[in-house]
Amino acid sequence: MPTTLYDNHGRPITYLRLAVTDRCNLRCFYCMPAEGIPYLPKQALLTYEEMERLVHVLAGMGITKVRITGGEPFVRKDLMYFLRRLKQIKGIEEVHITTNGVLTAPHIAQLKAIGIASVNLSLDTLDGERFRQITRRDEYGKVMHCLEQLLVHNIPVKINTVVMEGQNTKDIIPLAELTRTAPVSVRFIEEMPFNGEGNHYPVLVWTHDKIMQVLRQQYPNLQKISDKSHDTAYHYQVPGYAGTVGVIAAFSRTFCGSCNRIRITAQGTLKTCLYDGGVLDLKQLLRSRATDELIAEAFLRAFRHRAKDGFEAESRSRRTPVHESMSTIGG
Ligand code: GTP
Ligand code: 5AD
Ligand code: SF4
Repeated sequence: MPTTLYDNHGRPITYLRLAVTDRCNLRCFYCMPAEGIPYLPKQALLTYEEMERLVHVLAGMGITKVRITGGEPFVRKDLMYFLRRLKQIKGIEEVHITTNGVLTAPHIAQLKAIGIASVNLSLDTLDGERFRQITRRDEYGKVMHCLEQLLVHNIPVKINTVVMEGQNTKDIIPLAELTRTAPVSVRFIEEMPFNGEGNHYPVLVWTHDKIMQVLRQQYPNLQKISDKSHDTAYHYQVPGYAGTVGVIAAFSRTFCGSCNRIRITAQGTLKTCLYDGGVLDLKQLLRSRATDELIAEAFLRAFRHRAKDGFEAESRSRRTPVHESMSTIGG
């Protein structure tokens, strides 16, 4: 059993978010410009073999949980093959996926069979026309079918809803109402400026507090329930409902003190905070024939210099993060 590593602020590092592609089949306006962003050529992306090697090294350093992100993970060819390989790495206890749900439904039985721990589904509205406006694509039906199938197969589901002024604030309550009968966790997320363009608004309107006001007004008896350690969301439940609602203060960054996560982007950059500009070029290291020991040492050095929170990471970053897109970071 590897011993857990702690960073320079005493936080354990146990969770890897791994982006398998920068490509996406939607164009959510809070994530990408309408024309998208130039895709990386194939050789700029880590291969599955390279990713597997990194996960293997990290598993030896105490990483136990991996979340697969993108872009949209299912856009990358042979994802199921890769997931099966990941599940076999000793020390990796849980593999999760964050997906937009457009291509996911046909794979759900297999996801269940190979033991994927949970799926986080991006869904910002329950109105087909608003879905088209927000994502700039007409795929609402496929995403809802994916949600149904996840529930049918008893795969734990969290719904991610980015709350946006003038777009989907009318969806907050209908989405929360899904939890009346479905055992899902619906999480409302503060919008962050990672859309490839910069801030949409001069100040964030839909803050954690404002989202909570809407929920409390509708559900005066809303109850706080306990959050798991290292959770990004604050969870609540309407008494008697099957599921839970949550709020992720992604922009306000109130949960950095317990952050146990690192990220590897599709092009193989290590981020020890969502808001840093990248702290290590793993692709270069891998392709310069570094040994596993050398790679592990490079990880260790990075873990010992983690920013204490997203504000410090942002201020340390040379490139302004507001021009990055969530599709290249992986969320
Ligand atoms: P689990 O805790 O494993 O369920 O993952 P998650 O909810 O953090 O992951 P998911 O990919 O579903 O992300 C949900 C939202 O939280 C997205 O908008 C993410 O960008 C945001 N988020 C995830 N991790 C961080 C983080 O470290 N910092 C900030 N500020 N936001 C994050
Ligand atoms: N702000 C907040 N969340 C975002 N996501 C994508 N872009 C943003 C943004 N600018 C969310 C998606 C997805 C998760 C990985 O990140 O909704 O569920
Ligand atoms: Fe694609 Fe996710 Fe970005 Fe939407 S938020 S464009 S689904 S990567």
